[in-house]
Amino acid sequence: MKLNERVDAARGAGPQNHFVTRGGTLAPAGGDPAAGRPGGESPADPGSLPLPTAVVAPVDPLAELKERAAQELFGRIGSRLSDSSLDEEQLHALARAELGKIVSAEQVPLSREERNRLISEIGADVLGYGPLERLLNDETVTEIMVNGHEQIFVERHGQLTLSDASFTSEAQLRRVIERIVAKVGRRIDESSPLVDARLADGSRVNAIIPPLAVDGSSLTIRKFAREPLTAADLVGLGTLTPGMAEVLEACVNARLNIIVSGGTGTGKTTLLNVLSGFIPANERIITIEDAVELQLQQDHVIRLESRPANIEGKGEVTIRDLVRNSLRMRPDRIVIGECRGGESLDMLQAMNTGHEGSISTVHSNSPRDAISRLETLVLMAGMDLPLRAIREQISSAIDVIVQISRLKDGTRRITHVTEVQGMEGDIVTLQDAFVFDFSAGVDGDGRVLGHAAATGVRPRFADKFREMGIPLSPGIFQADLVTRGRR
Ligand SMILES: Nc1ncnc2c1ncn2[C@@H]1O[C@H](COP(=O)(O)OP(=O)(O)O)[C@@H](O)[C@H]1O
Ligand SMILES: [Mg+2]
Repeated sequence: MKLNERVDAARGAGPQNHFVTRGGTLAPAGGDPAAGRPGGESPADPGSLPLPTAVVAPVDPLAELKERAAQELFGRIGSRLSDSSLDEEQLHALARAELGKIVSAEQVPLSREERNRLISEIGADVLGYGPLERLLNDETVTEIMVNGHEQIFVERHGQLTLSDASFTSEAQLRRVIERIVAKVGRRIDESSPLVDARLADGSRVNAIIPPLAVDGSSLTIRKFAREPLTAADLVGLGTLTPGMAEVLEACVNARLNIIVSGGTGTGKTTLLNVLSGFIPANERIITIEDAVELQLQQDHVIRLESRPANIEGKGEVTIRDLVRNSLRMRPDRIVIGECRGGESLDMLQAMNTGHEGSISTVHSNSPRDAISRLETLVLMAGMDLPLRAIREQISSAIDVIVQISRLKDGTRRITHVTEVQGMEGDIVTLQDAFVFDFSAGVDGDGRVLGHAAATGVRPRFADKFREMGIPLSPGIFQADLVTRGRR
């Protein structure tokens, strides 16, 4: 199959759609072009990109005119885009009026339909997010990755595919990036070429531009889930079993301190949201995040968000500052979006001194790894504590580690629910209550067939459930698995 046909097939496009290649390489990097599979449907190895990295885009006869007119419009009203005295409607009216003039001055014969399309597309480009608008409005798209102006990958249902959208030029991409970051009062240019921002709908954005991004500006958008996943959704998706959900709910009710551990994009924040959802409605909850993502349904929630330094390097408020401040706010529970630094020490101390029931996440690949990650993070607090003292803090503060992973088939699964039991010598002792059993292998489509199961070891925290009168289904910790989790 020719490349064009493969791309068409991957997009599910009919033969009426003509795509041409524009620049870029035609063969997959270092591979045989014939080895490329039609995109999306490659469950045997979903982690790999489904298409060769060839760059293709639909031909738009008006592309050049559009680009010129957009530049002209930007030149005329660019300074007013971040003018806060204009609301969106006034800005749109202003832009439409200017655009009308610009397009007329171009003296290109256009049908009315073409003229309207041109004006609305340029409007989207200069006032909104250009070709990203459609992807942002597409509910099935969860992540958008712009790799230079010609290539936009999207994630749908956990699978990466090349989209048919593209920017007409690096300049157009840069305008969209500048507009996004200007809205949150940040700036992106050669002196500060990387920025984290948030769209009005809560989606998280990272932008990095040349010279750091060597092949052109790169933009990564993690879309905000309007309807956050619930515990029942996660059970439905196979992320955890009903038994595990029941145990985790009991852990939250029993005020155990819980750490969710996982890699980037494995679903830590989503799980943290679900766990926080189990906190009883009569408790005062303080959430602390780098960029607000949690969506708690309880009434009594105070949301705090850290702040980076401004352009002059002043005014930074860190997660650590917020954790310390939260202790003076009479919290019943502290929920920290992610521990990435010295705040870990303050969190552990809080957990050890009357703020039980706190929950957070760390970036790590196993429960054991979560412990060493926390050690490193505590050292970042700069207190020069001996390692043994740090481990004692960790082992007495943390009760449960929940490990979540993204498997090869793209599904997110809880692979461990692990109790932190204490210390044996210099080592923190961990005991798995549930682990994922991979032994069933994968089916013909590459889907993982295994499931999580109880190890058969009753965790010590179950005693606490009993003392507190928290009911659990009988036999919930009984093994349906041969492996025993003692490590
Ligand atoms: N259990 C799950 N099953 C399927 N998709 C999930 C699950 N948890 C999260 N997601 C999706 O995965 C993406 C990343 O989730 P997020 O919780 O932000 O990950 P992390 O905090 O680990 O980076 C989101 O788009 C989210 O909707
Ligand atoms: Mg997260």
